Amino acid sequence: MRVAGTNIVFLSAGFLFSLYAYLLHQIDGEVKRSILINAGFSFVAFLITFVMIPVVCPYLIHRWRLFGFDINKFGTPRGNIRIPEALGIVVGIVFLAVVWLFQHLYIANSTWLYWVALIPICLMILLGFVDDVWEVRWRVKLVFSFMAAFALLLAYYTYVGHTTIIVPKPLVPHVGLEFLDLGWVYYLYMCLLAVFCTNSINIHAGINGLEVGQTVVIASAILIHNIMRIGASTGNVEYQYAHVFSIHLVQPLLATSLALLSYNWYPSSVFVGDTYTYFAGMTLVVVGIISHSSEILICFFAPQIINFIMSLRQLVGIIPCPRHRLPKFDPQTGLLTGTEDGTLVNFCLRRFGRMSEQSLCIVLLSLQAIACGFGFFLWWLLAGWYK
Ligand code: UD1
Ligand code: MG
Repeated sequence: MRVAGTNIVFLSAGFLFSLYAYLLHQIDGEVKRSILINAGFSFVAFLITFVMIPVVCPYLIHRWRLFGFDINKFGTPRGNIRIPEALGIVVGIVFLAVVWLFQHLYIANSTWLYWVALIPICLMILLGFVDDVWEVRWRVKLVFSFMAAFALLLAYYTYVGHTTIIVPKPLVPHVGLEFLDLGWVYYLYMCLLAVFCTNSINIHAGINGLEVGQTVVIASAILIHNIMRIGASTGNVEYQYAHVFSIHLVQPLLATSLALLSYNWYPSSVFVGDTYTYFAGMTLVVVGIISHSSEILICFFAPQIINFIMSLRQLVGIIPCPRHRLPKFDPQTGLLTGTEDGTLVNFCLRRFGRMSEQSLCIVLLSLQAIACGFGFFLWWLLAGWYK
C-alpha cells in the first residue's frame, strides 16, 4: 500500500517536536514525567496504527464492502480504484485502547475521566461507523451527534458538575461578580459545541488529506496551548492538572492521526470515513472542555465556522444540496475548479484560481494554521486584560 504522506508527517512531527521540546523544557517534575510517559504511549499508538491500517484494508473492502471512489480523480486510472473507507475505526480503537491503558496504569482515581472523555468518544466512533456502513442522511447524522453530546453532558453532570465561568475583567463592574454560575446554559453551550465540532469537521472535507490534516493542525495547537498554560500556572495545581489531562488525550489523538495522514495524504490510499471525522471532532471538544479552553478552541475552529456559514443555505435547503459538494476535476490538466457549492474548498478555488488537489489541501491547512496562530495572538493580546 502506498504511503504518500511520509514527508508531510515527518515535517509536521519534526516541527511539533522542536516546539514541544522547547516548551516542555520550562515545565518540571512530576507533570513533565506524566506528559513524557504519555508521549511514549502515543508513539506506540502511532506505530500500531501505522501497521494496522494496511492489515485492516482488505477486510474493509471485501468483507464489509466499505470502499469509495476518489471523486477528484474521475477520468484518470486512479478514479477507478476501490479505496477502503472508514479507516477512522482503526484510529479510534487504538486511541481508546492506549488512553485507557495509560489512565489505568498511571492515573490514580481517574474514573470520572473515563466517563467524561472515553464514553462520549466511544459512542461517537460507534455512530460514525454506523453512518459509514449505512450512509445515513445528514439530518440523521445530526441526531447521532446530539446523542453522543448527551452522553458527554450526563457524564459531566455526574462527575465534574461545575458550571462556573470566570467573568471577563472588563465586565466585572457591570455584572458585579468575578465568577458566574451559568447552570443549564453551560450545558446547552457544551452540547452545541459538541454537535458543531463533530459535524463541522465532517463537512469541511472531500479533498485528500483535509479531514485528518485539519485535525492534526487543531490538535497540535491545543497541545501547544496546554503546555504553555501549564508553564504559566505553576501555582494552581487544579488548573495545571486540567491541562495535563487534556494533554493525555490530545497526544494519542495527534499520534494516531499522523499515522492515518500518511496513508490519507494525496494521492489517498485510504479514506477516513465519518468514523474518523466524528471521533476527531468529539475528542477535540472533550479535550477543550476538560482544560477549560473552549474559547480558544472556537478560534482554532474559525475555518470550520466559516465553512459552516457558507454551507448554511444548502444545509437548511434554501438552495439544493447535492450529495457531494466538491470542485470540478479536469482529468486533462489534473486541476480543480471551484463550483458554486457553498464550501470553503470551492471559495478558495474561486478566489485563488484553479489548482491541484494537493496544493489546495496545503492552502486549506495553511489557513487552518493561520486561524490557530490568530487564536494564540488573541489569547496573548487579551490575557491579563480580559481574564
Ligand atoms: C461530506 C460533505 C460532502 C462531501 C463529503 C466528502 C456536506 C453536507 N457534506 O459528506 O459535500 O463531498 O463530505 O467527504 O458538506 N471523497 C473523495 N476524496 C476525499 C474524501 C472523500 O472523493 O478526499 C469521497 C469518496 O467517494 C468517499 C466519500 O467522499 O467515499 C465519503 O464521503 P462521506 O464522508 O460519506 O460524505 P459526507 O460526510 O456525508
Ligand atoms: Mg464524511
